[in-house]
Amino acid sequence: MDSRLTRRGLLVGIGAAGGAGAMYAAMGALGLAPTSQETRFTPPQPGDFALQGRAAASVVVLGAGIAGLTAAYELGKAGYDVTVLEARGKPGGRNLTLRGGDSLGEVNGPTQRVTFGEGIYFNAGPARIAPWMVTLDYCRELGVPIETFVNRNAAAYVHTNGVTQRARTARADMYGYVAELLAKATDAGSLDRRLTREDRERLLEFLRRFGDLGPKLEYEGSTRRGFVDFPDVDAGVPLGPPGPLSQVLAAATGRAITNDFGYDQATPMFQPVGGMDRVVAALVERVGEDRIRTGIQVTSITGLADGVEVEWAGGRHRADYCVAALPPHVLARIPHNLGAEVTAALRKPVPVAAGKIGLEYGRRWWELEDRIYGGVTETDLDITHIWYPSHGYHERSGLIVGYYTTGKNAELYGALTPEDRRRRALTQGKKIHGEKYRADLLSSVSIAWERQQHILGGWVKWPAVDSSFTLLQRPAGRVYFAGDWLTHLVAWQAGAMESARNAVTRLHRHALQRP
Ligand code: PHE
Repeated sequence: MDSRLTRRGLLVGIGAAGGAGAMYAAMGALGLAPTSQETRFTPPQPGDFALQGRAAASVVVLGAGIAGLTAAYELGKAGYDVTVLEARGKPGGRNLTLRGGDSLGEVNGPTQRVTFGEGIYFNAGPARIAPWMVTLDYCRELGVPIETFVNRNAAAYVHTNGVTQRARTARADMYGYVAELLAKATDAGSLDRRLTREDRERLLEFLRRFGDLGPKLEYEGSTRRGFVDFPDVDAGVPLGPPGPLSQVLAAATGRAITNDFGYDQATPMFQPVGGMDRVVAALVERVGEDRIRTGIQVTSITGLADGVEVEWAGGRHRADYCVAALPPHVLARIPHNLGAEVTAALRKPVPVAAGKIGLEYGRRWWELEDRIYGGVTETDLDITHIWYPSHGYHERSGLIVGYYTTGKNAELYGALTPEDRRRRALTQGKKIHGEKYRADLLSSVSIAWERQQHILGGWVKWPAVDSSFTLLQRPAGRVYFAGDWLTHLVAWQAGAMESARNAVTRLHRHALQRP
């Protein structure tokens, strides 16, 4: 579909009906006003309504997670009368940072009291942001300071098939042997059907560098593997030579050493200074705390010809529009009159379990003894990863993430009591870090997102991105859906934000065109 034609048709129609002011306002909403850049999203402006001499519309936003808060924030810029209803006790949704004094409940589970010391925090939900994500634009706009999140660290460990080695060692060996094999095949002419003479030379030149190969194209180890004793006034003592190829292959380090290759995990990544919930706090402040009502569990959503009514035990609220920013599997359980197609579509995405444990230590042994400053240890154990903090370096105490699991492993940990989760996580981590991993622990707290009330999942998986996905990207009458689950950035705050912007764009367009 040619969207420019559609837009032009729309503008001509609006211009004819409402005059130049209306057309200009609509152009602003469409991102076509002369002063605005050609971006897909143009925030609603206060002037949009004033230019048309009409009052701003009212919107009820369901859910004060990142999608709901972003929608409320953007709508608020244009003067919409926004009310946010949140079922949980505080805004933020999965953007949850735990600190000493907090408590964390769980569906059919005990409440954990967080006893972390001063300044210690645990990002129990989102924790890293890629530089291309809109999340950083919101951090800039909202004045939330950011710092580097170390997602790749050569000094972190890789633990696979019972063997622990530094990431730099695992990488050096796999790159080295892969380079050697390819170089030898190339040199022997095995690839001559694919390569010209020039190609061959260029490839060999690259492979020498990639694998740190010797003169005979052999991988014989390299200082890239690391040192027993790093150089100082003396040359240092490099690690010994690598094991034979078959041993290196048997270590199966593939996933562990390619984890950060993706466009969404590549270094550098970022985090807000002081905790991910600084984003929530900033959005709440802009939206206005008085506009957000917590502890409101909506029991029905009724689309009307010219508005939406929502009800809960002991109350109801009517607005011109609704942005439903709940997880789809939670929304699917709320009675509504939006049609069977909407219900069926909401049931398509399947919730995925996800969990993390925060381990507080009184001593930053990972810096003092392991020389690990931030980053991630990858394992084939059920804990999957261990994260070291990317902030607070050289402070007395600190917090590491002892597991970050999804799917089956998350269900396994989620089914345990918090004490058993800790015990199991410590048993696993000890295989990598030794006795200090248990001995120096001060406290811990674990989250199983599939057991968090009103959330019930880490994120969702669409069996197929099909017509249900696109159906819900569009409004059902005056109800607009929003959430990371409606984007190709599932399990990212950026998805929630982009989806909110999509909902706001469509809603605002409609509000400006209303008769
Ligand atoms: N955003 C989450 C993370 O960074 C989950 C995720 C992981 C999503 C990898 C996509 C890819 O861990």
